[in-house]
Amino acid sequence: MKVLIADKFEKPGVEKMKTLGCQVTLDADLQGDSLRDAVRDTKCQILVVRSTKVTADILEAGKQAALELVIRAGAGVDTIDVPAATKHGIRVANCPGKNSVAVAELAVGLMLALDRRIVDNTVDLRRGVWNKKEYSKALGLKGRTLGVVGLGRIGYEIAVRAKAFDMKLLYSDVIDQKQYEKELGIRKVSMEQLLKESDVVTLHVPGGDKTKHLIGGAQLALMKPTAFLINCSRGGVVDEKALADAVKNGKLGGAGLDVYEVEPGANDKEFKDAVVQAGRIYGTHHIGASTEEAQLAVAEEAVRIVECTMKGQPVPNTVN
Ligand code: MLT
Repeated sequence: MKVLIADKFEKPGVEKMKTLGCQVTLDADLQGDSLRDAVRDTKCQILVVRSTKVTADILEAGKQAALELVIRAGAGVDTIDVPAATKHGIRVANCPGKNSVAVAELAVGLMLALDRRIVDNTVDLRRGVWNKKEYSKALGLKGRTLGVVGLGRIGYEIAVRAKAFDMKLLYSDVIDQKQYEKELGIRKVSMEQLLKESDVVTLHVPGGDKTKHLIGGAQLALMKPTAFLINCSRGGVVDEKALADAVKNGKLGGAGLDVYEVEPGANDKEFKDAVVQAGRIYGTHHIGASTEEAQLAVAEEAVRIVECTMKGQPVPNTVN
């Protein structure tokens, strides 16, 4: 079976695919037209991507060649035109749950960094400024309330860690997570109550039309002026302009963002989003899933999907 990997991918995963008998082409620089041409020229049956976008024209070229399956080496599939894949009879599979701990670790890191203003501390020290007085105003996390919007696997991992900090736990979700409620003492409340009562709100919902601007001006206005918002899910979930305004106007304590409404492609080097200039907003480069632990687990899952496909077994984790 021919596999084209058009993104960074852990070496043990590549080796395992070769051991299975796959003919693997790895080129992390492919994107847009060059990816479309490679899908056509390599006649790959399986395409593996992470941040690289798979658009309708790439899928159409794939259909005319040999493409049967696109594997997203991550949880979300918003970088793949799934309706176009479905139209061409190409399956799309993802690797859910394999990077949950990594994302949770970053969300917790952003929460701690915001509370102690670690980034601003560091910037001042690098500028030769000592300002213990200014930076001695943290609220602390013990006894504060964490609101988890979307108590799936990532939300659960964050709640586990926040419990260890003695935080009170709330969640809102379309489904009842009774098992997690029992295990962690986390309480289900309405979104409105969660926003009003939480000192930290962390978002863990899928991207897409249904969650577009789930947090906008009206929702931010419900939050405490000292509260922090963490978004390690998808950029479109938060109205960035409303967020920047809320932070600039002192209506919100700050925000930690790993994702943005418009993100650069895998190989782009420039980032001009104004939201990261808005004062107490700490930003990272969509690195939530980027730990060695998580990437090895994701690669292993991608290999499992390839192996099942080769054996003619049902393809795991298909989304279409
Ligand atoms: C995911 O969907 O799991 C992550 O966003 C993957 C990534 O960081 O590329």
